[in-house]
Amino acid sequence: MRVLEYLLLSDPMKDALSEQLNHEFYSAYLYLAMSAYRSHENFNGAAQWMQLQYEEEHVHATKIYDYLVDQGAHVKLLRIAAPSDQYGSILEVFQASLAHEQEMTNRLNELSDRALKEKDHATYNLLQWFVNEQVEEEATVGGIIAKLQLVKDDGYGLLMVDNELGSRPAAQPDGA
Ligand code: FEO
Repeated sequence: MRVLEYLLLSDPMKDALSEQLNHEFYSAYLYLAMSAYRSHENFNGAAQWMQLQYEEEHVHATKIYDYLVDQGAHVKLLRIAAPSDQYGSILEVFQASLAHEQEMTNRLNELSDRALKEKDHATYNLLQWFVNEQVEEEATVGGIIAKLQLVKDDGYGLLMVDNELGSRPAAQPDGA
């Protein structure tokens, strides 16, 4: 059967977005692994925070998937790498989160550069949503790290931060 063929993306851009789709799914997987680790350590607030982040990353992946479908691409899903099951202290897990988000920001900036170079304004527009989202994500995680650095190993302080993390509101339907 002849399939719908109206691809509006260049092949390199389609491949790059497929890779980014994979990175977003990996992000979801990473946060789920972090949540599992924190649950095991009885930091239930942090575990809940990571669980919500897992859901948010899933929405991000779906946003790219839907865009590829709308642009007429035949989406090919790539293998998702297995994240670590060890993340150290609660501070270290958020430091790992920040490092991961900074890496994602670099990827999205490079993709935006590519879209501009190709004069692909639709993709550039999509990517700007992600670029703006990264600013918020890095700021949020940076704020959590600052609090954890302040309380250091103080048990009461850690409990307070963990409780606060557990009150994170559910992810918005648009993944913001
Ligand atoms: Fe998909 Fe953590 O940004």
